[in-house]
Order: sequence, then structure tokens, then C-alpha cells
Amino acid sequence: MATTALQVLYPNSRPSYDNKDTWLTLEETAVEKRFDMIFRPTYDFPGDYIDGYHKFLASAPIFPDNLAEGCIDIGYEGWLLPADACKLYELAYFNPDVLEIGTYRGLSSAVMSHAIVNAGNGGQIVTVDLDPVHQYVARVAHDTRKVPGRENIHYFVFDGTEFVRSLYEREEPRLFQMVFVDHTHVYEPMLDICPLLHKVTAPGGFVLFHDYNDQRNANPEALDFGVYQAVNETLSKEHFEFYGIFGACGLYRRR
Ligand SMILES: C[S@@+](CC[C@H](N)C(=O)[O-])C[C@H]1O[C@@H](n2cnc3c(N)ncnc32)[C@H](O)[C@@H]1O
Repeated sequence: MATTALQVLYPNSRPSYDNKDTWLTLEETAVEKRFDMIFRPTYDFPGDYIDGYHKFLASAPIFPDNLAEGCIDIGYEGWLLPADACKLYELAYFNPDVLEIGTYRGLSSAVMSHAIVNAGNGGQIVTVDLDPVHQYVARVAHDTRKVPGRENIHYFVFDGTEFVRSLYEREEPRLFQMVFVDHTHVYEPMLDICPLLHKVTAPGGFVLFHDYNDQRNANPEALDFGVYQAVNETLSKEHFEFYGIFGACGLYRRR
């Protein structure tokens, strides 16, 4: 018998919209378009938002421009636009087994944990960061703010690429329904991790790349940006298809 929100409201929750028409070329991203690429659903749900928390994210308070232009301020440092946060929430709601590369101070993991708990099916977030201090701050923030589901957030201090390797080199490779890649916007480290992602993403699952739609990727003087290029050059096309651009994020689905 169906007992959770996800089972009752969405008994056959499969993605309905591939949003392929949101594709942007690198040249098109060279002009600021993060605010034009609004949240659009990947799943079918009645109304514009899944629930009240999803709607809250869409109109959450915003940091002052000099701190984090256009980014939501819900009590954590971080750089998520409303469209980024809404897409993270939606994906985690329907795909509650999450790997996050780049915890920082816990903003994105808090958003996804709310989604997992509100969907009611149980689930977990495995989050990895190279910096133990950031991750400690994230843990404390989750505890202090009593983030629902925080007992199911598992924190690891590790290099993201090495961590991914360790997950698929196990005797039984660990596959996730959703992977959020947000540890770097530099081309070379993105080149290292992109070709490995199909090995930790379950068939039908998603990888969401932050900073994919950022005008600095196309700027030859911004030497520390190259997410768009790294993803398009090295994410396996055999295993992934493009599924939309929302805010600063690019979404790919595992075939
Ligand atoms: C942009 S922040 C992540 C923000 C977070 N996802 C959020 O939205 O709240 C990037 C984080 O990645 C971490 N990082 C940088 N290089 C890394 C690496 N090679 N492996 C794992 N984490 C890394 C940094 O320490 C930083 O905390």
C-alpha cells in the first residue's frame, strides 16, 4: 500500500520533460544568461511547484549583490540561484539517493535533504569535500538548524575524483540516482572527473553540473573557468544525454 508523499502523489514518477530546447552553445553562454534560464520542471507535478518548500526556494531571500549576486540566503553561505535550488530540490525529491561533490558550508545538501524528507521515501546524501573546515561548518549548520534528514547526510573529506574512483572500484560499485558536481569550475579537474561519472550514476539517474552556464567559461581571460567545455568534451555521450539548463546548472541524464 502506498504510504509516502512520493508513492501517493507520484506512483509512476518518471521524468516527463527533457527540456532540450534550453540548450545553449558556448558562445551563447558568453552573455549573462543565468537569470534567463528559469526553473522548468523535469518531472510532471500539478502546479508550478512540488510543495511549499519548493515554492519557498523560488522566492527565497537573496544575498546583497556584493556578497553573492542573485543567490538565495536561507541561512548558509553559498552560491545557488533560485533556479539552481529549485532544480536541486526537484531532482532530490524524485531521486533521493544523492552523491554531492563539494559540500562547502552545507547549502545545497540542506536543500536536497529537505526534498528527500518531504518526499517521505527515505534516502540519503553522500557529500564529499576536500576541506575539513568547510565540511565541519556544514555539519554544525545542519545540526544547529535542525535540517530534516540530517542523520542521513554522510560527510566525507576527500578529493572528489578520488572519492568517485573509490566508489566504483569497490567489489560492488556504488551507483547513485543523482550526482551534484559542484567542487570546481576549473577545466582540468573537471576533465578528470567527467569521464568517470557514468560509473557512479544509475541508469535513468541524473548528473547536475553547477557553473555550466556561466559567462566566464567562454572568457579566455578567465583561466579558472571551463566547466562547459570539460563536460561537453569528456562526459560520455554514450552514457548521458543533455536534459536542460536551469540557472547556472546543466543537467544530464544517464541513458
Ligand atoms: C562551490 S563550493 C560547493 C558549494 C555547495 N555545493 C553548495 O551549493 O552549498 C565548492 C567546494 O568544493 C570543495 N573542493 C574544491 N576542490 C575539491 C576537490 N578536488 N574535491 C572535493 N572538494 C573540493 C571546496 O573546498 C568547496 O567547499
